[in-house]
Amino acid sequence: MHIELLTDITAISSADAHIQFVFKDHCATIGTRIQWVDRHALDGLVRQSGFKGELNDVLVMPSLANSTVTVIVGLGDIQSFGLDELRKASGNAIKKLSHANHVIISIDDLTDSVNREWAASAIVEGIVMGSYRFDRYRSTPNVLALNRISIVTSTPTDADAILTMAHRGRRFGNATCLARDLANMASNDLTPDHFVSIAEREFKKSKTIELEVVTKKDAMRHNMGAFLAVAQGSSADPALLVIRYRPINDGAPIALIGKGVTFDSGGISIKPGKGMSDMKADMSGAAAVMAAMRLLGELNAPVNVTAVIPLTENMPSGKALKPGDVVVAMNGTSIEVINTDAEGRLILCDAITHAIKRENARMIIDIATLTGACSVALGELAAAVLGNSQAIIDELIASGKHVGEWTWQLPLFSEFKDYLKSDVADIANMSEAGKGGTCTGAKFLEHFVGDIPWAHIDMASMMKPRNQSGYATKGMSGYGARLLAEFILRQTGTTPEIGHTK
Ligand code: BES
Ligand code: MN
Ligand code: ZN
Repeated sequence: MHIELLTDITAISSADAHIQFVFKDHCATIGTRIQWVDRHALDGLVRQSGFKGELNDVLVMPSLANSTVTVIVGLGDIQSFGLDELRKASGNAIKKLSHANHVIISIDDLTDSVNREWAASAIVEGIVMGSYRFDRYRSTPNVLALNRISIVTSTPTDADAILTMAHRGRRFGNATCLARDLANMASNDLTPDHFVSIAEREFKKSKTIELEVVTKKDAMRHNMGAFLAVAQGSSADPALLVIRYRPINDGAPIALIGKGVTFDSGGISIKPGKGMSDMKADMSGAAAVMAAMRLLGELNAPVNVTAVIPLTENMPSGKALKPGDVVVAMNGTSIEVINTDAEGRLILCDAITHAIKRENARMIIDIATLTGACSVALGELAAAVLGNSQAIIDELIASGKHVGEWTWQLPLFSEFKDYLKSDVADIANMSEAGKGGTCTGAKFLEHFVGDIPWAHIDMASMMKPRNQSGYATKGMSGYGARLLAEFILRQTGTTPEIGHTK
């Protein structure tokens, strides 16, 4: 993708489209703001189309003189305007331009509300995410037409900073697209082994990232009884993928742990058929972690991070884990399996122990499509965040706000511990009452974390967008990659140097 900065929006006649943002309050004076279109035609179109400048309003205005179209995109209220509104408006615009190769966008009208570097970043991010399509399985894939974005500002005093941030937005957007690609893949394609080979291909050339694959045999040697119990019903071998990003010499790493259930049938506690196909995306946490690692590497973030990604299917079979079974986790805890569909916590608890014992993690963030209860609580608007460190939780909430991936805190009351009492083992994998599902899921994980600063993100609510507005697209959301990368970048307290290439 070629990104450039221009000073005059009418300078280039080869562009397929001009994108013009309009606040709701400026709608009445729209003709004076867009000088290159016929004012009468524009007024007429605005009147008749019902365009009000609301956030999801888009008006496509053809030019009779040449092939360039003008897309007028609503930004909504100035008062509630921020970076995510700009990402969404950019996503809305690009969806009307699926065949455009080259788009031109003015950022001059935005400068009062957000600074221009961040505006450039948000626009490109929104365009990259909004133009995403998943057509891996189509016999005639659609090739993305867009290859050039021109950003226009009449006062380009900070041109370098604007371009740098535009490219930062492109990289953030592409991280979400990678997470979407992985989550959208069918489970007969994206097996645990295939996930590992995609990671190997992705990081082959990196000098700062190394991989280790903990095989089923290794997992047996390390007594990962909970992880292996989930995997035992499937004919696909599990794998625990470790991705180490080591840009600096010393310092224990932050661990990012992502749930990688490549298909969750529920196991013997089998799920109902309706909607079960979505459970190919029960590895969305793993996808977010892998995409965040790629992004951190691209941005040269100066902090050591280790990703731990347990990958397996959850299937019923003659060899499968059964309700009532007792398994022993890597840290020695015995677990009574009340329900084999509460499998995410069983694979995560061994991944957590692995991160602590074998990777020397100083902080742990896990992300998982853990509980349906999460959507009951939050709809499709936010992921739940819980943990033992309020500082981490606060920073995750702030990071999520910044990138438009919202998280909302739920409590980890000590009394939730009682919900997980087992008559026969140290802990049960769910509460019989079926209440407080998201909180008790996190409570289970807390048992394995000990006193390491930790937060858990339950992104089940965000796995699939409710509609395709803004930069959301058909299929899975790719939630979490940008959130995790933003969080890690904030740990370093620096703005990393990034180039303009590609
Ligand atoms: N992967 C599911 C949770 C899920 C549901 C994610 C819908 C995305 C959309 C998870 O493994 C699961 O089955 N959770 C159970 C837990 C229960 C048995 C304690 C649930 O939510 O019903
Ligand atoms: Mn399940
Ligand atoms: Zn699951």
